[in-house]
Amino acid sequence: MMLLTLQRIPAFTTSLFCRCSSKVFQRHCSRMLSKKMTVSDALASKETGSNVRIQGWVRSVRPQKDNLFLHVNDGSSLQPLQVVAGSHLNTRCVFLIYPPFLSRDLTFGCAVDITGTLEKSPSKRQNVELQAQRIEVVGECNPVDFPFKIKERHSLEYVRQYPHLRCRTNAFSSLLRIRSEASTAIQSFFRDNGYVQIHTPVITSNDCEGAGELFQVEPAGDKNDSDDPNPHFFSVPAYLTVSGQLHLEVMAGAFSAVYTFGPTFRAENSQSRRHLAEFYMVEAEIAFTESLDDLMKVMENLFKATTEHVLSHCAEDVELFHKYMAPGHRDQVDLMLKRKFNIISYTEAIDILKSSSQNFTFSTEWGCDLQTEHEKFLVKHCGNVPVFVINYPYELKPFYARDNQDQPKHTAAAVDLLVPEVGELCGGSLREERLELLSQRLAQAGLKDTYEWYLQLREFGSVPHGGFGMGFERYLLCILGLHNIKDVIPFARFSHSCPL
Ligand code: 4AD
Ligand code: MG
Repeated sequence: MMLLTLQRIPAFTTSLFCRCSSKVFQRHCSRMLSKKMTVSDALASKETGSNVRIQGWVRSVRPQKDNLFLHVNDGSSLQPLQVVAGSHLNTRCVFLIYPPFLSRDLTFGCAVDITGTLEKSPSKRQNVELQAQRIEVVGECNPVDFPFKIKERHSLEYVRQYPHLRCRTNAFSSLLRIRSEASTAIQSFFRDNGYVQIHTPVITSNDCEGAGELFQVEPAGDKNDSDDPNPHFFSVPAYLTVSGQLHLEVMAGAFSAVYTFGPTFRAENSQSRRHLAEFYMVEAEIAFTESLDDLMKVMENLFKATTEHVLSHCAEDVELFHKYMAPGHRDQVDLMLKRKFNIISYTEAIDILKSSSQNFTFSTEWGCDLQTEHEKFLVKHCGNVPVFVINYPYELKPFYARDNQDQPKHTAAAVDLLVPEVGELCGGSLREERLELLSQRLAQAGLKDTYEWYLQLREFGSVPHGGFGMGFERYLLCILGLHNIKDVIPFARFSHSCPL
């Protein structure tokens, strides 16, 4: 650790130093006289002339003839704070700062603890700058070995190789601030609309989606050590949750409107740009709901309220993506906010696909599931405004989807929200609340015993209800105009990749 005193300290402190000249004591006094601030607060501060202390990481070092300029960032904003170690320095300090010091310690990426005075900046690029009195290098960073280089704009693919370090890059730190703010906005949306948050379990014994993409949960190690004849830790097979929906349905039977927002797991053997093995899902469940229109209103309002919040609270961070990585995407976002989302039925969607001149890889026959290529085409067809597709073939949907009892095309009251470039963002449905019909469907699937508790919800005070889930990472892709889901989650997990 290297400590530098860059300016003569006030008389009071100097006299103390005479009595105790230890560097630890000097450091202590200097810190005591300074107010600790984040870079973001310092940049917005109007209190020029005040003593402040900043802790962060060096983003650039520019030695000039009389001045040393540093940019320091602490994760609180995209913009760094300019630090100037200026011409007022005494010779001893200049000697310490220049070449021997720069090449060894004060480098791009090192961690610093700086005290000094906030001053109005002569430059137009920032309002204030920090005139340093002390710079302490808390943690060195060898610029040769550090995978990110000063002034280079590294691609998202490149920084993806360093999941433990990529939060130090501008783009990924912006992403994480946006992610945090979007998460707050989602929580506020539900709280403001009277929903109760439920912490649904991560470990569960049911397979909500029935798609078989489950991770099983058992203790690690040799099971033969135990005398217990039951092979399962929980006595039954248990899995990481693929959706909190069924647990939310339990709670909607008492609280009317509930939501959950947490990690969700799918063992999809996919390296696709839209799928992760661990992702975050926002799910809502609403009792006394008889129409898909009510659900769609909530989805559209959630999307718009969250996006407006992010645009106004993270303007600089969002601009970084819209300016450098997805030029023109801001117009797309504004269009999505301004226009009412479209609604088409699955049958209409199939008609649109069939009558198009595009050659699709996957089938467009009625009864086939919509694939990403179909979803993207449909959104384009609807003017790049998000589109709800409703009333899917009954056979395509899980047991819980409400039977529309229609003929000859038998459908369920299910809905997907498709958005530009991403495709499916939300999936939801009205739930089958009629005991008789649900019981028959579960019996056909051989699941009646497993879901006895679920049937009981229909026996005791059953009400029409419905809900949906929105993939949080896909939401971030959609508003930022990014293409790879691995770039919008702090630590991406997908098949054959779980590095830390
Ligand atoms: O459409 P899904 O499978 O719906 C459900 O799980 C319902 N039980 C939700 C409900 O009604 N409460 O998943 C919902 C959303 C998808 O639309 C998609 O955005 C996202 O979750 N999603 C994934 N995101 C990333 N990686 C994956 N492997 C995903 N699988 C689904
Ligand atoms: Mg779905």
